[in-house]
Amino acid sequence: MKRPIAELIGTGRYLPDKVLSNADLEKMVDTSDQWILDRTGIRERRVASAEETLACMGKVACEQALESAGVDVADVDVLLTATASPDRLLPSQACDIQATLGAVNAAAFDVIAACSGFIYGLTVAEGMVSSGQAKNILVVGAERLTAITNYKDRATCILLGDGVGATLVRPARNGTRGILSSYLKTDGRLANLLYRPGGGSVHPPSEEMLADGSYFLTMAGRETFKHAVRSMSDACDQAMARAGLSGDDIDLLIPHQANLRIIEATAKHMGMPLDKVYVNIDRYGNTSAASIPIALDECVREGRVTEGTTILMVAFGGGLTWGAVVVRW
Ligand code: UT7
Repeated sequence: MKRPIAELIGTGRYLPDKVLSNADLEKMVDTSDQWILDRTGIRERRVASAEETLACMGKVACEQALESAGVDVADVDVLLTATASPDRLLPSQACDIQATLGAVNAAAFDVIAACSGFIYGLTVAEGMVSSGQAKNILVVGAERLTAITNYKDRATCILLGDGVGATLVRPARNGTRGILSSYLKTDGRLANLLYRPGGGSVHPPSEEMLADGSYFLTMAGRETFKHAVRSMSDACDQAMARAGLSGDDIDLLIPHQANLRIIEATAKHMGMPLDKVYVNIDRYGNTSAASIPIALDECVREGRVTEGTTILMVAFGGGLTWGAVVVRW
C-alpha cells in the first residue's frame, strides 16, 4: 500500500429546512408513498428556498468544515465545487462560494461529473496536493436539483433533493491517515441515459423546452439502475485492489444515495453487513454530488467515523461516471 499523500480533515453540511414528503408528492403526481418507499427507500427530501442559493448553503458547509479542521479561511488555497445544478452557468459555482465565504486566497473552479462529482473532486484535490500546488483544499459537493427537476415526471421528481456537504483536503501528516486509493471511470457513450437534453448552447433555453420537459433532468431509470449496480461494484473492487485491502478491512461504506436497492446490491457485492453501510436516503433522497459529503459529515458528527476508521466511498451518475475512494480517517 502506498503512503497517503493527502488526508481529509474537517467536514460540514447544509440542508434546507423545507421538507417535501412522499405524501406531498402524492398530491403533485400519480404516485404513492408506498411505491416510492418500496422502489427507492426515500421518505422525504429537502427543497431550497429562493434565498438558499448554493453560494449561501456552500458558505455554511465550508465554514463548518474549516472550523472542525481548525483552518483559517485565509489559508484555503483551492476551493473546488462538484455540482450539476449551479446557481448560474457562468462563472463557476466555486467562484460564487469563494465570494460568499471570503476565501480570498483560493483558486476556485468546478468539477462536473454529476453524482460522482465529489469522488472526482477528492481525486483532483489529492493530485494538487501531491504536485505541491495546494495545501488546503475545500472540496464541496453542492446541489439544488429541485431547480432542474420536472415535477410533471413522476419517474424523476420523487428522487431528487437539495443540500451541500464539504470537507478539507490537505497533505497527509503521517504514513497511515489519508486517501489510500482512488479509481475513476467514465462511459460517455451512455450519456443519454441520464442527462439534460436542453438548456446548453446547442439547444438554448426556450418556452417549448420548459413545456416539453427537455430543460430538466431526464433519466432512463431501469437502464440506469442496471449500470449503477454494475459500476458501483466495479468501482469498489478497483479502489480496494489499488489500496491492497479486502472487504473485511473496511469499517464503513458510504455510498452515493441514489436508491436503497442499489446501495444494498453494492453492500452485498462487497460482502458487507448493512450495519457497516451508511444510509440517509430516507431523509434526503438523491442529492447527487452532495450526497457523500453530507453523509460523511453526519458520520463524523455522530461518532461513526473516528481516527483510524477505514471508509470506502463510492458513487455513480450521469456521464456515465463512476468511482470510489478509500480513506483512512
Ligand atoms: O444518482 C445516480 C443515478 N441514478 C440512479 O442510479 C437511479 C437508477 N434508477 C432507479 O433508481 C429506478 O429505476 C427508479 C426508482 C427511477 C424507478 O424504479 P424501477 O423499479 O426501475 O421502476 P421502472 O422505471 O421499471 O417502472 C416500473 C413501473 C412503471 O409502470 P409500468 O410500465 O410497469 O406500468 C412506471 O411507470 O412503475 C411506474 N412508475 C411509478 N409508479 C408510481 C415509475 N415511477 C413511478 C412513481 N410512482 N413515482
